[in-house]
Amino acid sequence: MMSPMSCRIAPSILSADFGHLADEIARLEAGGADWIHIDVMDGRFVPNLTFGAKVIETVRKLTRLPLDVHLMVVQPENYFDAFAKAGANGMTIHVEAAPHLERQLARIRELGCGAGIALNPGTPVEWAREVASELDLLLVMTVNPGFGGQSFIASSLDKIRRARLLLMETRSRAVLEVDGGISRATIEQVWRAGADTFVAGHAVFSAADPCAEIAALRAMCTERA
Ligand code: DX5
Ligand code: ZN
Repeated sequence: MMSPMSCRIAPSILSADFGHLADEIARLEAGGADWIHIDVMDGRFVPNLTFGAKVIETVRKLTRLPLDVHLMVVQPENYFDAFAKAGANGMTIHVEAAPHLERQLARIRELGCGAGIALNPGTPVEWAREVASELDLLLVMTVNPGFGGQSFIASSLDKIRRARLLLMETRSRAVLEVDGGISRATIEQVWRAGADTFVAGHAVFSAADPCAEIAALRAMCTERA
């Protein structure tokens, strides 16, 4: 049984209009976004390229909201210092790309940031167990990372339940975040499965009114028994 708690909505700027980034960020703030999710891709860990420290720094100047930086890169440690300096509040690295996880997480914390790990859809929840008590965030990917606008992988629901269980068993206080295919059609089930923090790119930015969409997503996370 879980105690009721409030959810966090973290819109991903991957789907934003970069020609009007300042307006987009202002809209997210006005809409009550809790965090801004920033997807860093290197064209190696995932088959797509996005942005790095320069964009984090730009977003930092546009908002006081926490910047939740998701590193879909190999050798993530190469970027920790630059991203922390650019204003990241949290950095999440993929376990599939992080052989020295304990050391890498410690370094993120040393830099004053929240430390998170992400699990690809094919990666077992168990990969989080040994470091669970040192985590600020556990991210369960509900699509294969690389692109916005993909469909939620339905079997992830059971994985989210198991991830919540693992956090409880290890007495971890980590946030349980989900990323990929979150929309009005999926968020409620994911919330009920035990997630508390929701990344949403396409759903927010393709909506006629992104502010209203954030509110609509939040409203679907009602009390759970
Ligand atoms: C996927 C990224 C996500 C992505 C989510 O590779 O990590 O953060 O932007 O996008 P939607 O919500 O469109 O699935
Ligand atoms: Zn992401």
